[in-house]
Amino acid sequence: MDRRLGVCRLEVTGDGAPIREHARPEPSSGDSAAQHWHCHWHCSTTLLVLDDSLKQILRTPGLILWLTGAGVSAESGIPTFRGKEGYWQVGSRHYQPEEMATWAAFQEMPDEVWAWYLYRRSVCRGAEPNVAHRALAKAEERGGDLFLLVTQNVDGLHLRAGNTLDRTYQIHGNIDFMRCSRECLPAPVPLPEGIDLVWNKGRPVTERELQALKCPSCGTMTRPHVLWFDESYDEANFRFQSAIDAAQQASLVVVVGTSGGTSLPMHLGTIAAQRGVPMVVINPEPNPFSALVTRSGNGAFLSGAAGQWLPEIVDALPSA
Ligand code: OAD
Repeated sequence: MDRRLGVCRLEVTGDGAPIREHARPEPSSGDSAAQHWHCHWHCSTTLLVLDDSLKQILRTPGLILWLTGAGVSAESGIPTFRGKEGYWQVGSRHYQPEEMATWAAFQEMPDEVWAWYLYRRSVCRGAEPNVAHRALAKAEERGGDLFLLVTQNVDGLHLRAGNTLDRTYQIHGNIDFMRCSRECLPAPVPLPEGIDLVWNKGRPVTERELQALKCPSCGTMTRPHVLWFDESYDEANFRFQSAIDAAQQASLVVVVGTSGGTSLPMHLGTIAAQRGVPMVVINPEPNPFSALVTRSGNGAFLSGAAGQWLPEIVDALPSA
């Protein structure tokens, strides 16, 4: 048993009867992975994976699809969406974030929606990539064309850590960009320089800033380049079809720090599971992706933080 990984194992005997072994490693001061180890499926019925099996899974040849959510940026100090400190709770005083993050709200009160996004952008810009982001940048360096990252995060931290736009599909957009609200621009454009990077919660947008946020082509109001709750994924803005194609082609899927609350990520996980592709899920809590692994018996659920697992996972990958 590799004590650093500290996962349980399931063996199947010749007659098909499972023997489960909960080989909890002895905690030792120099071994943080072991100290944090615990088994969510302790004495439950399904998947337990040999640590050596995990290493073997990570050596699966072919495209690795990495799917990330807000949990990856939690260690950078950006609140997760559905956590206690999440944006859902700390948005505008008068509106729930689900109400603000809509095309309907933008039509009704564009200035307030922009102010809310500029505050959120300020939180993202004040954060730095963490060890998990850096591990994924290293994974791309090593994997090249066999690396593909699909992220729900709009904070841009994967790109700031070194992942390339070519190999990073930002399926919910990027908070540093804006689009013409009439979609007259061929592509999203960066927010203008005149917009403050530091934005206190509740600060309204000035008339000068509103002018700067007009479409450089047609002069109508721009909108943040993010996917809103009353909108659908598309290829042009959110790489919808490309993400599905990646799930169809991947040999291995690694899902990190997402609750599985949105449709496209769950669709990608389901495609992979239906294709019999192994899935590795990293999260402090079980979630619908770990349930997929449990059901398929093909992969591993690694309980813990992204930063705790990703460096080890990436180090175990073969070079391209
Ligand atoms: P959520 O806030 O729904 O979930 C965050 C996940 O991260 C949870 O499963 C946590 O258990 C996990 N988590 C917390 N800390 C972690 C850590 N240190 N390491 C690893 N995991 C950790 O965020 P998302 O799943 O990303 O979409 O939310 C998806 C989408 O919900 C968002 O992109 C947003 C919202 O609808 C849009 O705005 C379109």
